[in-house]
Amino acid sequence: MKIAIHKHEESFSDRWIKYCDENNISYKLVSCYHTDIISELNDCNGLMWHWNQNDYKATLFARQLILSLEKKGVKVFPDVNTGWHHDDKLGQKYLLESIDAPLVPAHVFYSKKEALAWLHTTTFPKVFKLRGGAGSVNVSLVKTKRDAKALIKKAFGKGFSHINRFSRLKDRFWVFKRDRDKKAVKGIFSGAARIFIPTEVEKFSHREKGYIYFQDFIPKNEYDTRLVVIGNRCFGVRRYCRDGDFRASGSGVKAYDPKLFSSQCIKIAFEVAEKLNAQSVAFDFIWDHDVPKIVEISYCFVMGSFYDDCPGYWDKELNWHEKKVNPQYFMIEDFIEDLKKVI
Ligand SMILES: Nc1ncnc2c1ncn2[C@@H]1O[C@H](COP(=O)(O)OP(=O)(O)O)[C@@H](O)[C@H]1O
Ligand SMILES: [Mg+2]
Repeated sequence: MKIAIHKHEESFSDRWIKYCDENNISYKLVSCYHTDIISELNDCNGLMWHWNQNDYKATLFARQLILSLEKKGVKVFPDVNTGWHHDDKLGQKYLLESIDAPLVPAHVFYSKKEALAWLHTTTFPKVFKLRGGAGSVNVSLVKTKRDAKALIKKAFGKGFSHINRFSRLKDRFWVFKRDRDKKAVKGIFSGAARIFIPTEVEKFSHREKGYIYFQDFIPKNEYDTRLVVIGNRCFGVRRYCRDGDFRASGSGVKAYDPKLFSSQCIKIAFEVAEKLNAQSVAFDFIWDHDVPKIVEISYCFVMGSFYDDCPGYWDKELNWHEKKVNPQYFMIEDFIEDLKKVI
């Protein structure tokens, strides 16, 4: 058995490679950007590639490559079921509705006329989101019909930049308020400069337009619940909202005590992961009174202490295991087990 790993520093591949070295797993390093990547994998049973929205090149072809490799008989992490909806809140809306998962009610329109007509039938506030983005940068509260109208005009006019630069800068101020250190000050300066100088990702991304997406606003949530399911393990982080803000993701204020997590959410997370047939899936839950609702899903997330600090995980029977959490090791352990079944 031999697996291929797409190496990219500071991505999950760092740990996948370490795992292979520690466990004598045969692997070769590849680049998915090579035009002959399909034949480069002739001698491999599987490919692991941590691609995400910050890699504009990957988003051009990752889904297409992965599906093609599956046709060739090469197993992939993330496979099609796990990754096709990554960073795509529109895709997730259809997917979660199809399997009756408890998604926060979501509304999408592909014409200005329909979107404007809907305004007269609904209530405010609503939450406006672009289909992509992380850390809450492309998520905002729309308090009035008038504000929604302006957004609709923009969505079907010049569109939105791939990343809301002002929201990003505002976030840097929040980080400064939270940390008051040198790094935070640097963050403010770079955020301010980035208002005028686009990042490489922004330069190569097209504008978001031709659709508009809203979710019902679920009030009174001081935190969201991030649960990650990888195989028979579920671990979680409670993320508190920024001060005076409804958004938790990206706030950096968090708690891990297993008592903070409702078994209702953990059960839903396992059930939905199974229906999706996902190798790895992270959920953002919020509470609609006492009913947990899913805000979005994602196959990958930050690497490092954010999840490594989880004190353990639950299994499908909801038993708690006080064990070291290393999400990237969980991924490769399961992947190798799956490969063993087919070769
Ligand atoms: N419909 C909603 N009602 C209330 N709060 C929400 C809603 N959607 C998102 N949030 C809050 O905003 C945060 C960011 O939203 P999310 O859709 O997860 O975007 P991102 O992809 O940037 O993480 C969530 O962590 C949650 O705290
Ligand atoms: Mg989120």
